[in-house]
Amino acid sequence: MQHDPLAPVVTIDGPGGSGKGTLSSLVAAKLGWHLLDSGALYRIVAVSAQSQAIDLEDENALVVMIADLQIAFAGDIVDVNGKDLSDIIRTEETGVAASRVAALPGVRDAILALQKSFQRAPGLVADGRDMGTVVFPHSKAKIFLDASAEARADRRYKQLKNKGLSVNLRDLLEQIQERDARDRGRAVAPLKPAADALIIDSTQMTIEEVLETVMTEVTKGYS
Ligand code: C5P
Repeated sequence: MQHDPLAPVVTIDGPGGSGKGTLSSLVAAKLGWHLLDSGALYRIVAVSAQSQAIDLEDENALVVMIADLQIAFAGDIVDVNGKDLSDIIRTEETGVAASRVAALPGVRDAILALQKSFQRAPGLVADGRDMGTVVFPHSKAKIFLDASAEARADRRYKQLKNKGLSVNLRDLLEQIQERDARDRGRAVAPLKPAADALIIDSTQMTIEEVLETVMTEVTKGYS
């Protein structure tokens, strides 16, 4: 499938645990469009650096390393240079490490073209922090999904528990707050809604209600 710069793009940005991932998958399935989980790319960079003993602050070494990454997504499976990283990239510790490498402009630049290449017919749903502000600024349907830090920690807690992982709610809340502070405060591509984004606070909403609101916005932008 070819990159198509005219294919429609729905951008779904927001902080960790806001439900972006689930929402983006549902929207992509409903529309029959492609999905870009851009957070997975930063997570892959963090895990690959750790496995090669590269310092998470060493921007030059990270940029060189990224050029050698062969990344393939197949459903939930994430294969990097022939290794299945699907589980390790999803831990909270990897999320925190990802937010450290994501603060480096060289790292963001190095994966920009890869992210743009996901724009393909019939359309793309792009999930991240800067999809509407930096990567796909021309999108006609931008969503910024928010929720209180407590609600997000609680949702993550339930998700991880369901996967059989042992987690502590207070630690999760701290990790979420640490990641939020870094993502919102960084100099490059900070987490913030695009000027033309629809902001949805999902703290008191069900996923069905959020989905309906998003689908209305997509229809407005692309019909
Ligand atoms: O969305 P997810 O939790 O998988 O993202 C992990 C980290 O990657 C975020 O905390 C953020 O620092 C970074 N990220 C980013 N820009 C994106 C997507 C993720 O900086 N578009």
